[in-house]
Amino acid sequence: MSRPPGCPFDPPAEFRDLRADEPISRVRLWDGKIAWLVTRFDDVREVLADPRFSADMTNPGFPSHSAGVSVTRQKHPTFLNMDDPEHARHRRMLTRDFMIKRVEALRPRIQRHVDELLDEFTAGPQPADLVTGFALPVTSSVISELLGVPYEDHEFFQRQSGLLISGETGADEALEAFATIREYLGGLVERKAAEPAPDVISHLLEIERAGGLSRDELINMLNLLLRAGHETTANMIALGTLALLQNPAQLAALKADTSPAVVANAVEELLRYLTITHYGRRRVALEDVEVAGTLIRKGEGVVAANDSANRDPEAFGDNPDELDLSRSARHHLTFGYGVHQCLGQPLARVELQVVYPTLLRRLPDLRLAAPVSELPFKTKNVFYGLFAMPVEW
Ligand code: HEM
Repeated sequence: MSRPPGCPFDPPAEFRDLRADEPISRVRLWDGKIAWLVTRFDDVREVLADPRFSADMTNPGFPSHSAGVSVTRQKHPTFLNMDDPEHARHRRMLTRDFMIKRVEALRPRIQRHVDELLDEFTAGPQPADLVTGFALPVTSSVISELLGVPYEDHEFFQRQSGLLISGETGADEALEAFATIREYLGGLVERKAAEPAPDVISHLLEIERAGGLSRDELINMLNLLLRAGHETTANMIALGTLALLQNPAQLAALKADTSPAVVANAVEELLRYLTITHYGRRRVALEDVEVAGTLIRKGEGVVAANDSANRDPEAFGDNPDELDLSRSARHHLTFGYGVHQCLGQPLARVELQVVYPTLLRRLPDLRLAAPVSELPFKTKNVFYGLFAMPVEW
């Protein structure tokens, strides 16, 4: 299903009819496999909260996103694709590092990163690319610092990540990119073992020494954190800025009141409206399960369309297709739902709550330097966003 022409923020138009008439329907995937497509908010939550639906990609019925994503995640699994209790055992190792209190304490540091990067960005020529010049540097520098990965290596890891989340990367190319990044991270972990620091890698090495994690698992986990930690939020920064520029009344309202509560609410609405995790949460049934009157049989795949759920009027009231920064949208499903709900959401929230008001305050005349119709959107990537966004200020 393609996004409709016209508004780059809208999910496929078919979702509206499916939610109304056939909320659990059959869909054909890129590899010819048939899966169930779940489009209503309540049903998506029900699937994601039910342990009879597995995130294990090695299960033959799993509805994968693309050849590249499928082969790398099967070969190098992380807790993203494990079920409890194994999933919970791994995830618990990181809750301390990503808990709200811990991330809140980083807010002043994140503000400093944003200010400095904006200084650099605005010192350069115009027009400039907001994605590579600002969004990616912000998220990459923050996650690098938290994990203990040298930020100087950002071009390398951004390139490898880009290959791994592109829906167009074939299996062999994806495996090669994975091997390259694993080799890099392996060397880094070796160095950290000799010289520990107050960072996530050193924390995971302590767990490894206590027998809780193998080196292979540690490297896979680190790889997941590094990639999930920069690409996702960077897409939100650029796409969210574009959504604000395209909705001048909303932009003006936010500029007029950037108090913390108003900004936090606006961030939730932008997360809902844009749903950058746009290919649905994928699961496979471990036994026969009935969802909203439809029987899903053991071994069948399910695509829980959180982008459709986020536009469900039953959950978000009238006009769910409009960006309304005053809407109460915190129950959106952009971070998923259930046991796999995003571990990094406190960090993503703080980054976005810092970035948008800072950008609006410091660049009040920010504007696009190309027509929206000419912008390169990441329609086929695991995460929706922009490859580039030329701006002037
Ligand atoms: C706007 C930014 C972000 C969005 C929209 C997002 C979205 C998501 C979603 C939808 C899931 C659930 C996957 C599923 O159910 O199959 C998830 C899981 C995860 N996210 Fe994020 N994420 C974001 C930022 C981050 C950041 C900054 C990190 C930091 C390291 C992160 C780390 C993770 C991890 C480790 C998981 C796996 C959790 C598990 O399986 O228990 N994410 N994310």
